[in-house]
Amino acid sequence: RPRILSGMQPTDDSLTLGNYIGALTQWVALQDSYDTLYMMADLHALTVNPEPARLRERTRRTLAQYLAGGVDPERSTLFVQSHVPEHAELAWILSCQTGFGEASRMTQFKDKAAKQGTDGTTVGLFTYPVLMAADILLYDAERVPVGEDQRQHLEITRDIAERLNTRFGHDTVVVPEPHIVKAVAKIYDLQEPTSKMSKSATGKGTIWLLDDPKVSAKRIKSAVTDDEAVVRYDPATKPGVSNLLTIFSALTGRTVADLETEYADKQYGHLKVDLAEAVVEFLTPFQERVDSYLSDPAELDRVLAAGAQKAREIASTTLARVYDRVGLLPAS
Ligand code: TYM
Repeated sequence: RPRILSGMQPTDDSLTLGNYIGALTQWVALQDSYDTLYMMADLHALTVNPEPARLRERTRRTLAQYLAGGVDPERSTLFVQSHVPEHAELAWILSCQTGFGEASRMTQFKDKAAKQGTDGTTVGLFTYPVLMAADILLYDAERVPVGEDQRQHLEITRDIAERLNTRFGHDTVVVPEPHIVKAVAKIYDLQEPTSKMSKSATGKGTIWLLDDPKVSAKRIKSAVTDDEAVVRYDPATKPGVSNLLTIFSALTGRTVADLETEYADKQYGHLKVDLAEAVVEFLTPFQERVDSYLSDPAELDRVLAAGAQKAREIASTTLARVYDRVGLLPAS
């Protein structure tokens, strides 16, 4: 079966509704037809310099949220990035095949570096996309389910992969395709519906999966809309209402067209009250499942141990192939 790899950074106690709708629901849907591997990108999370004990805790909580969202350890390989040392090893090889200018053009890097200044910006933040390329290429992944914000990182991954194949032989690595589902690939901030809903936003525009559902309901009800007072999906002119419709559709399985018809002659308030209820109905059992997974750390450890073993089998084979192709002398 064709292989899929993806991951999220355990940078916060909770994932966001954007992570869930844009990525996690796709991960779950792909489990039946692909050989799926999903990781906690803890090495990537080090770029924000987390407090050590919190990083460990967040890595577990991220796993619990993957499971609560429907990732099934019987069908998917779940592992922690740092448990597979080949990620860091391949990243070095790839960094020697990546242009400095090429890496400098990454918009996420430029945005983050602009906020942190030259001294606050680490080399790790700069080489972040190279590590991400290693994550993907190690598993010969054919598709990578992510949200729109990761598109450029997938492009550089493809460029690096093609370069390796040109230099070292066409089958050195598999060139991956992004799997980005347009309708849900970018969930927007509720207060600023032209910006991505993000973990780093500090305002009231983010829905956190592990926040009190009442807080989330309130945030939906105070979402920014527009003055037209017509419920209609039109992201260009009605970003706020369109975002609410996207979220409503993703959480209930109803189509946007169906929702437009139902709310055609109703006020925004109706839409918000009903969506707030759908959000609470989703979050409440989700959080119960997260709590139940977190209450059994031994079981989480078993999932991770099995996942790491499976991941390492694949990763070590790929790394040995790449080491050989680039001319490293084998240890005998
Ligand atoms: P991260 O942790 O920022 O986000 C995890 C996933 O959630 C998606 N996402 C969104 N989708 C829709 N709307 C939003 N508002 C939204 N916010 C986040 C992201 O696109 C992502 O799919 N670099 C990656 C983690 C990573 C990775 C990898 C991914 C490390 N190695 C290898 C794929 C393959 C990141 O920071 O995602």
